[in-house]
Amino acid sequence: MGIKDGVDHQLSGLVRSINEGAIRHQLSGGSIVLIPSMGYSPSGETFHLDVDVVAREVACALSADKLIFMTEQTGLKDITGNLISEIDLSDTRTGDVSLEPLTEKLLSHCDQACRQGVARCHIISFATDGALLEELFTRDGCGTQVIGNSYEQIRTASIEDVPGILKLIAPLEESGALVKRSRELLESEIQQFVVIERDGLLISCAALYDYDTSGELACLVTHPDYRNSDRGDRLLDAIEKAARANDIVELFVLTTQSAHWFTERGFSESNREALPAGKKEFYNDQRSSTVLRKALRD
Ligand SMILES: CC(C)(COP(=O)(O)OP(=O)(O)OC[C@H]1O[C@@H](n2cnc3c(N)ncnc32)[C@H](O)[C@@H]1OP(=O)(O)O)[C@@H](O)C(=O)NCCC(=O)NCCS
Repeated sequence: MGIKDGVDHQLSGLVRSINEGAIRHQLSGGSIVLIPSMGYSPSGETFHLDVDVVAREVACALSADKLIFMTEQTGLKDITGNLISEIDLSDTRTGDVSLEPLTEKLLSHCDQACRQGVARCHIISFATDGALLEELFTRDGCGTQVIGNSYEQIRTASIEDVPGILKLIAPLEESGALVKRSRELLESEIQQFVVIERDGLLISCAALYDYDTSGELACLVTHPDYRNSDRGDRLLDAIEKAARANDIVELFVLTTQSAHWFTERGFSESNREALPAGKKEFYNDQRSSTVLRKALRD
């Protein structure tokens, strides 16, 4: 770091480079790579590095799926002291969220990581037993998830989205994966849809149809160029939230080609007899779709 404002930082160093190839090599062999906060200069000197910066730089070099900070704090808190379970960096940039000053440094690491290709960051407590499992495998987690890809927006669809949705679903209707929907039908049902928009382009959509205490999740689609980056999961999450808000206690889905996707996310196989009356009478015998159900718990 040298001398800054007259203070000689002596053996405190900055990250110069990450040996990404070596890390990837170890990872591909199934190893867990532990990286200390010590750096070595080409001339053989040892430097102490900021551990959060090392973590951030390694995550960026690997374009990691996640960067998880295990800290003294449970997560980020707002000024009233309440835990924020999910935060979109665009909200913090526009000042919509006020944070405790202590959390700003961590958040700026998350911000830089997200700008450099890390999909998600998490801030969790190292003092909470099971925090990692709870954060990664429960719906609300126990710390704070930081979302950086704010140029992607998940939102309820509006009438202007009809052409984009038609374009997104057309190839799947042709292949038989989805039932055909006319423009008129889509226009009349548009408020049931949730979409993900990226740079003005609709890349993912899903719909929720209300059958009293049951809800049908339908038309879940991600554009082939954007698959396998959790967008389907994010839409399912949004649909489940909307369903709970409408007092729906159970979701069902009819699918011909994606049954496994749903069973891996808590759905289990059911049959047409279990469908709500309004849906059962329109069950298409020719398609013979698999019926799957999932109970929504609070
Ligand atoms: C199913 C679909 C919506 C998933 O979208 P996505 O944005 O890629 O979803 P995610 O990123 O959250 O999930 C990707 C994971 O699901 C897996 N997956 C994708 N399609 C699958 C299928 N048909 N069956 C089982 N798993 C599937 C991927 O291999 C990936 O697995 P991984 O995380 O282990 O690598 C997308 O593949 C799609 O549009 N399919 C065609 C439309 C369809 O059949 N919709 C369901 C009927 S309503």
